Amino acid sequence: MLTPQINLFKKSNPIQAQVLANTRLTPELGKGKRSMREGDAAVHRITIAIDHSVYPYMIGQSAGIIPPGLDPEKQTKGLADASYTVRLYSIASPSYSFGQTKDNIEFVVKRDNVYDENGNLLHKGVCSNYLCDLKPGDVVTMTGPAGKKFLLPQTDFSGDIFFFATGTGISPFLGMVEELLVQKLIQFQGNLWLIYGAPYSDEIVLRDYFEDKTKEFSNFHFVTAISREEKNSFDGGKMYITHRAKENAEAIKNAVNGNGKFYICGGPKGMEKGVIQEIMSACGTDSTYEAFKKHLEEKEQLFVETY
Ligand SMILES: Cc1cc2nc3c(=O)[nH]c(=O)nc-3n(C[C@H](O)[C@H](O)[C@H](O)COP(=O)(O)OP(=O)(O)OC[C@H]3O[C@@H](n4cnc5c(N)ncnc54)[C@H](O)[C@@H]3O)c2cc1C
Ligand SMILES: NC(=O)c1ccc[n+]([C@@H]2O[C@H](COP(=O)([O-])OP(=O)(O)OC[C@H]3O[C@@H](n4cnc5c(N)ncnc54)[C@H](OP(=O)(O)O)[C@@H]3O)[C@@H](O)[C@H]2O)c1
Repeated sequence: MLTPQINLFKKSNPIQAQVLANTRLTPELGKGKRSMREGDAAVHRITIAIDHSVYPYMIGQSAGIIPPGLDPEKQTKGLADASYTVRLYSIASPSYSFGQTKDNIEFVVKRDNVYDENGNLLHKGVCSNYLCDLKPGDVVTMTGPAGKKFLLPQTDFSGDIFFFATGTGISPFLGMVEELLVQKLIQFQGNLWLIYGAPYSDEIVLRDYFEDKTKEFSNFHFVTAISREEKNSFDGGKMYITHRAKENAEAIKNAVNGNGKFYICGGPKGMEKGVIQEIMSACGTDSTYEAFKKHLEEKEQLFVETY
């Protein structure tokens, strides 16, 4: 059984690691479904060499990245340490890496840019652009691992598991699907649901991987919610992961009652509320939102990582 280790590397004592690969997962600007006026939606998969005996991460944890250079805002304020603040990124590779080689760590990162209504760039996210621009051989400075709650069951598990992701919230679920279904570190006998929302169909990243898994594993259910292309059947508005939850209320109720687990990851911050409210209405509970959430968290049935 693995146990999470945290903060082995800090900003004052970071680890340096070399980039192995960097692949763009979404269409190039202007080549996909997204209009130019909405700006670029660039999601990258980045693989970095890491020795697990030195940096023993578990899927569900995050790693810190320190962007190189100095933060102009901190410099303007005259701070003695003007280096950039650490940014956290969910680890996307399973605890023993893809192929169980124990020699790398992967991330799924989106350039966090801000555009005006005409698609002109207003702000380039510092760390996300640094990561998405990395080339094989470049060296990154990392902290972590971070987080000890958003973890898979570590002993054999027969309940159902639901993963809810929006945008780059898909990152930890890539490694979790691999670890549960392919690597089988524990005996998992339940159903595994991945409910994944993105604005456009071509921004559902790693689709081939997940669709292949549905063919290989009959207990794996892959459901997408394409907000800017599909309408939901409840009020005719955008299709969100919450509407997919409503459509699958019976399976959700069975999961809650069967000691199943729910994982929610992605943005915008607070989006977990809608998902948890759907879990509540599936169960027909008259509990308050706060009490229900606390109850599921205490029973280790609910795990939230939203940002
Ligand atoms: C636990 C956790 C896990 C995460 N996992 C992932 C992940 O797997 N993948 C991923 O892509 N991200 C992830 N994130 C988000 C990530 O940590 C960063 O927040 C994100 O990449 C943005 O950082 P940045 O340095 O690129 O952007 P920054 O430069 O810090 O900007 C961030 C935001 O601040 C605003 N902003 C800042 N300055 C300006 C300005 N001058 N003008 C206008 N707006 C401005 C904008 O809204 C901008 O989008 C995670 C966050 C957490 C907490
Ligand atoms: N990825 C990052 O780097 C990052 C970092 C920090 C914060 N964030 C924040 O996270 C949010 C999403 O970012 P992203 O670019 O990763 O994702 P994304 O690709 O934009 O996908 C998010 C999906 O979730 C939908 N959605 C919006 N509100 C929702 C809600 N309340 N419940 C369910 N689904 C909802 C969106 O629909 P519509 O957009 O069509 O309404 C979209 O389909 C943004 O607010 C962003 O500022 C992102």
